[in-house]
Amino acid sequence: MERAKAIIRDADLVVSFSGAGLSQESGIPTFRDADGIWTTVDPFKMASADGFAADPEGVIDWYDERRRFIAGKDPNPAHRALAVAPSMVHITQNIDHLLERAGVGDVVHLHGVIDRDHCHDRCGHEEAVDPSAPPGLRPCPRCGALMRPSIVWFGEPLPQREWFRAQAAIAAADAIIVVGTSGEVYPAAGLIDLARDYGAKMIVVNPEETPAGRAADVDIRGLAGEVVPELLSVRTP
Ligand code: APR
Repeated sequence: MERAKAIIRDADLVVSFSGAGLSQESGIPTFRDADGIWTTVDPFKMASADGFAADPEGVIDWYDERRRFIAGKDPNPAHRALAVAPSMVHITQNIDHLLERAGVGDVVHLHGVIDRDHCHDRCGHEEAVDPSAPPGLRPCPRCGALMRPSIVWFGEPLPQREWFRAQAAIAAADAIIVVGTSGEVYPAAGLIDLARDYGAKMIVVNPEETPAGRAADVDIRGLAGEVVPELLSVRTP
């Protein structure tokens, strides 16, 4: 931890790159842990365009159940520590808004967010939805195709603007904190390789060993809610 704190202390720009593990202590299950979401639901049935075509109502019902569940969760100490640390850029694979609710003004969401829908035929129509009372399966009011969550499904491209912003942040970063991700899903996980190519110092926070951890300057075994506040204490005003 002391080596990691020294890296954070000496860095100008620190970037956080997070996954589901960041929100795990807020009560939101991860995807690939033993009790993860993908251990009970087939990701290609529920998080792909083919799955949506096969069972649009089932997919929307599942996402709306997740939206209502996530809407009731609160930020944990890791979200709050990331929010108060100055001059950081926050990139996340998470669709929740717990970083924003902890006070982060601008989060780069690579995999979308739970409170927006868009036309599946991409006619351009999109709408904000209330995740605590989602509207269910419905036609696009502009073109009649189906509306679906603005969440990136397997096989779909990342939102270009967010993807470019993430790469630019990694290129400029002096240090990157990789917290709560298995680093298994590309292209997002490619940011870890990019950080190494650009020479950013990398600190991994994860209770498990991961490929990112093996390549990191410092691999901290632990829970985000415990490690991140201590790690960022050297940077918090
Ligand atoms: N603190 C830190 N890390 C944790 C914690 C915690 N409290 N609890 C679990 N973890 C770690 C796990 O050890 C694991 O390495 O978080 C990681 C979660 O990995 P995944 O479940 O694979 O989630 P993630 O990496 O975010 O998945 C990436 O895959 O299914 C897609 O779109 C989905 O954005 C998601 C992407």
